[in-house]
Amino acid sequence: MSDTVYLNGSFLPLEQATIPVLDRGFIFGDGVYEVIPVYSAQPFRLDEHLGRLALSLEAIRIRNPLDIAAWRNVVVDLINANRHLDDQSLYIQVTRGVAPRDQAFPKPEVAPTVLLMSMPLATPSPALIESGVSAITALDIRWQRCNIKAISLLANVLLRQEAVDHDVAETLMLRDGYLTEGSSSNIFVVKDGVLLAPPKNQHMLPGITYDVVLELAQAHGLPFRVGPVSEAQLRTADEIWLTSSTKEVLAVIMLDGVAVSDGKPGPIFKRMYALYQAFKNQVMRPTR
Ligand code: PDD
Repeated sequence: MSDTVYLNGSFLPLEQATIPVLDRGFIFGDGVYEVIPVYSAQPFRLDEHLGRLALSLEAIRIRNPLDIAAWRNVVVDLINANRHLDDQSLYIQVTRGVAPRDQAFPKPEVAPTVLLMSMPLATPSPALIESGVSAITALDIRWQRCNIKAISLLANVLLRQEAVDHDVAETLMLRDGYLTEGSSSNIFVVKDGVLLAPPKNQHMLPGITYDVVLELAQAHGLPFRVGPVSEAQLRTADEIWLTSSTKEVLAVIMLDGVAVSDGKPGPIFKRMYALYQAFKNQVMRPTR
């Protein structure tokens, strides 16, 4: 059964969904996106993802093509059209639309291109949760508006490939001696029993999973502090975690070839992982 996508108002098989070459997403990377995890046909934190999408659109001055109710309906309809997939990773992309190539915004304005598609959601295996993953560091070579979830991801692509070339899971980025985030994840550090989280600003994406982790820390009395995390703090961390909608919470046990603490996922990670799974199961799989 082929996957169904939503393109500009129509639901159609993936193979039939095509975009004109003059789409500004293709030509300039002029658009924004979201990735929403879907568990047992339930979108996780949907309104938060749609809220961030609205902020990204506003930041790059694209008119939001749908209101919140319409977005919710399209998302639910697409999930249902792809029920043959198990858990889904639902992708939304909005570009500035199709127009003759010119960097300036099209005038008159053109309709944004709206694409939604679903892929199988592959969360980390139990073995990976148990073992943790390795990572490397690199300079954050991105722009000054990393809080926008922009589809122009060339720097992230190069940084992520650096990780692949080193046979590790992620590249952690440093800007002016401070940790920003991973190439496709947010990063937390544990030092002396305190969870440290880089602050939301223009140097990192305000992660939806990041918010869930901080909410769980707050609710369960885990000490945490949101503030700049220096390279020295990163390199002497007792624990390092990465978070994202597709990776959930994952321990980093090796950084630039050096073991993080004893090279095993730490006790606070294990606690947070359990809290995250319990929270997810509670909100996504009500026992009815
Ligand atoms: N990426 N930072 C970056 C640069 C990201 O690309 C992502 C997610 C995150 C985590 O955000 P969230 O918790 O809202 O997923 C942080 C998605 C999964 C992607 O591009 O595939």
